[in-house]
Amino acid sequence: MSESEASGARPFRVIAVANQKGGVGKTTTAINLATALAAAGEKTLLIDLDPQGNASTGLGLPRQARRHGSYALLLGNDQAATLCQPTAVPDLSLIPAEDDLAGAEIELVGLPRREFRLRDSLSALTAHAIVLIDCPPGLNLLTLNALVAADAVLVPLQCEFLALEGISQIIRTIEMVRRGFNPGLRLQGIVLTMFDRRNNLSELVAADARGFFGTQVYETVIPRNIRISEAPSHGKPVLLYDFRSPGAQAYIKLAGELLKREREPRTIPA
Ligand SMILES: Nc1ncnc2c1ncn2[C@@H]1O[C@H](COP(=O)(O)OP(=O)(O)O)[C@@H](O)[C@H]1O
Ligand SMILES: [Mg+2]
Repeated sequence: MSESEASGARPFRVIAVANQKGGVGKTTTAINLATALAAAGEKTLLIDLDPQGNASTGLGLPRQARRHGSYALLLGNDQAATLCQPTAVPDLSLIPAEDDLAGAEIELVGLPRREFRLRDSLSALTAHAIVLIDCPPGLNLLTLNALVAADAVLVPLQCEFLALEGISQIIRTIEMVRRGFNPGLRLQGIVLTMFDRRNNLSELVAADARGFFGTQVYETVIPRNIRISEAPSHGKPVLLYDFRSPGAQAYIKLAGELLKREREPRTIPA
């Protein structure tokens, strides 16, 4: 595939969950949104693109089952379809992060089409409707591969001091990727995470974000919820760990809102 074909129509939608800051809820959102989308009947693939492998752990995939994953996707000639593994969630597959992924960034530097490796490996995918990519923190070559492979970027925004400053950086990165590599890339939306009703700062950040980004901020807000943070140590998405918890219910609502957005006619990208 040539660079000019990079924005051609594909039978699936790729959404990168990205924010250069660590600890803002990227992995938590990737795991639980993927689960909720699968539960809504969408054939979903989650790609763990973070060498820390937290999404693979959170979905209960033991280390010995992670030998072939996103490193093979980026550095080998493996197509995504051959690397998908089933999870405990029906209709949700995973391409895990194997240990080698930690060195991938450096190895990528010398390769041809280094920014397009992930996009190229997804080109023959047919069994999935939605692909979510859990990005590492930082704006490195792994994140760049995700943004070049993606149709849209979902940005988790933690409701904390200086949150908006961080978001302007990812917005600028999206614009840079659009100009240089992937003209069709759009901001899919911003999701407020770890919202704490008892904390005025959460309300302030939410109001600021909505004032600035308007309807690009999802109505659904993910509350700070202990069940969400407990679930990964049981190797389960919160929807399987405690379906009734406010965290699980929020991710179900978010999936509904996302599907509604994805089915609406396109508005001009931000
Ligand atoms: N809504 C939430 N409520 C409580 N804890 C959360 C919530 N979202 C994320 N966390 C916790 O915050 C930490 C960072 O989240 P994570 O999703 O790993 O962020 P990132 O992938 O952006 O680094 C994790 O320990 C996670 O369990
Ligand atoms: Mg993470």
